[in-house]
Amino acid sequence: MHKISKTWLIESIIIGDRSIFKVICLIFLERIGIMYYEYFYMKKLLFLIALFIFCHGVGLSEERRNVYFILPEGHPYRLVGFSSGEMEDVSLKFGDRITVLDNYVHGSFVWYYCSKGQSFFYLPEIFTVKEPEGTRYDEDGNIILGSANVDRLNPIPIFYKPTDLIAVPKNYMARGYETRAAVLRKAALNRFIHLIADAEKDGVNIRIISAFRDARYQSYLYHNALKRFGMFQNSVAKPGHSEHQLGTTCDLTTDEIASGLTRDFENTAAFLWLKDHIPLYGIFLSYPKYKARITGYIYEPWHFRYWGEDRWENLTLRYKLFLCR
Ligand code: DAL
Repeated sequence: MHKISKTWLIESIIIGDRSIFKVICLIFLERIGIMYYEYFYMKKLLFLIALFIFCHGVGLSEERRNVYFILPEGHPYRLVGFSSGEMEDVSLKFGDRITVLDNYVHGSFVWYYCSKGQSFFYLPEIFTVKEPEGTRYDEDGNIILGSANVDRLNPIPIFYKPTDLIAVPKNYMARGYETRAAVLRKAALNRFIHLIADAEKDGVNIRIISAFRDARYQSYLYHNALKRFGMFQNSVAKPGHSEHQLGTTCDLTTDEIASGLTRDFENTAAFLWLKDHIPLYGIFLSYPKYKARITGYIYEPWHFRYWGEDRWENLTLRYKLFLCR
């Protein structure tokens, strides 16, 4: 094979089989120690890279992926005000696994072109949840405390339910709380109970109003929020995207606001006490004021997550930078 040499280049130009541009390129390559034959193979490689980028761009290498349908049983469009007579033959229910074949933006929505069994149909992305990546479990099959970054972008498995859920004693629950039995993971229950008892010693009333929620129950709340606030609501997380599904998160309230779940909570003695004490318990406020652009959700002075004893190691950088006092 040729080593690029000056004489060879000059001869090449004179006999006309090399353009000036190629010669400049070859001189440059020679300077950085590349041989002619390497240049030859590099051209092939560059061509293949360009072909890959092109194919990727036009979607030829787009992989099919699976998502889960997250609205309650029934016709998805009618449920939340979309209308389409074209979907009559497709019946989807919560948790159905759907294959996404393609996606595109139409109006204000991302739409998926999907298949399930023999049916092909379009579905807005907001009615689906992705399969998560990299969820870390302990030997009992529970997500390692503080390891999951559950937010608008990152879900946990839709059918995940911790195995160490324990009922919250009634005296720690708010009056008029949800009729569902409230449960929390053992470690989280322990910390929240301690926190409530310590606040009580300081004369401050704090109670739990909502604890673990499975994705099916979250689906019911999410669906109601879509109907009530519209498709772009940022109050209720999609099923699979709620910290409540971890079993380590509580909505707290106090009798000063009649055990309600409102923003007035931030003006109560309970909230002031919590602001000063929660880091000691490995507990943090997930959706602080003026941080909706970062957290993806409106200010929720009542929503607290237990991150585990190694709280600082467990907290993601996002929380360290923006959420901690
Ligand atoms: N309200 C919070 C975002 C949730 O639904 O988990």
